Amino acid sequence: MSSPRHFLTLNDISRDEFHALIHRAVELKALHRTGESHATLRGKVMAMIFAKASTRTRVSFEAGMSQLGGSAMFLSSQDTQLGRGEPIADSARVISSMVDIVMIRTFAHADVETFAQHSKVPVINALTDDYHPCQLLADMQTWFEQRGDMAGKTVCWLGDGNNMCHSYINAAKILDFELVIACAEGFDPDAKLLDGNKERVRIERDPKVAATGADLLVTDVWASMGQEDETDTRLAGLAPYQLNRALLDLAAPDALYMHCLPAHRGEEITADLMDDPTSVIWDEAENRLHAQKALIELLLA
Ligand code: CP
Ligand code: NVA
Repeated sequence: MSSPRHFLTLNDISRDEFHALIHRAVELKALHRTGESHATLRGKVMAMIFAKASTRTRVSFEAGMSQLGGSAMFLSSQDTQLGRGEPIADSARVISSMVDIVMIRTFAHADVETFAQHSKVPVINALTDDYHPCQLLADMQTWFEQRGDMAGKTVCWLGDGNNMCHSYINAAKILDFELVIACAEGFDPDAKLLDGNKERVRIERDPKVAATGADLLVTDVWASMGQEDETDTRLAGLAPYQLNRALLDLAAPDALYMHCLPAHRGEEITADLMDDPTSVIWDEAENRLHAQKALIELLLA
């Protein structure tokens, strides 16, 4: 049996595949809108393993599998033997012998890698402490729908150098855009990842300089899941990097802004931007559904 195809970071797909995936996601979105059947995965079962909370990821994967003619089962790591110390490798062998595809949201990225190494079926990273590649599929679909190709554009990341920021670094390389990361010292993304992408990615401490002329501004919470104890220090350290109207006014005239959600209004983004009728943030959230359906089709092809 050939080894399964995993999606642990964006580096698991090529530029051509990324473009094809977005194209298919747009197509699946249209089919969904018209109510036309697109049950390409009839009878397929997804196991969804969650060690962290989720709204969008759970709903989009579960609804997506169902709309493609398959089904999905929610497995909280707390309620399975994973939460009682059964080795990840053993769990992977067993779970992957019963389902067609697995999605995992957890803390250590190495845990998803271990699961994938021992899985007979494709494994999708649905967020780890280090990466959130599924969100980038949706973000990039949203950009393509509104503005076309990403190549040559400038993206300004504002705030914490977190899992989302890391996935933006990977996306910059694959889709060939420039990424300016505006963050405070002490909140930088992974140094090795930065170093490996120096030609397209740079740190800029001044958020105004970073936002000036940018085509897309992106932010995310300042304290990610698992960092709740650091909330006060993080809020204080990252306060100058709030995405607000003044910063948006410095960006390109037709700039878009995104947030993967959940958002903290008044912290990393202001309420007026969240609620602005021209915001694409809600399309971005919805596109999780369509982009991941295209991803599942790709991995199970
Ligand atoms: N953006 C995102 O992954 O949302 P959830 O945490 O609600 O899944
Ligand atoms: N950086 C955030 C993203 C949530 C979707 C977190 O990891 O909590």
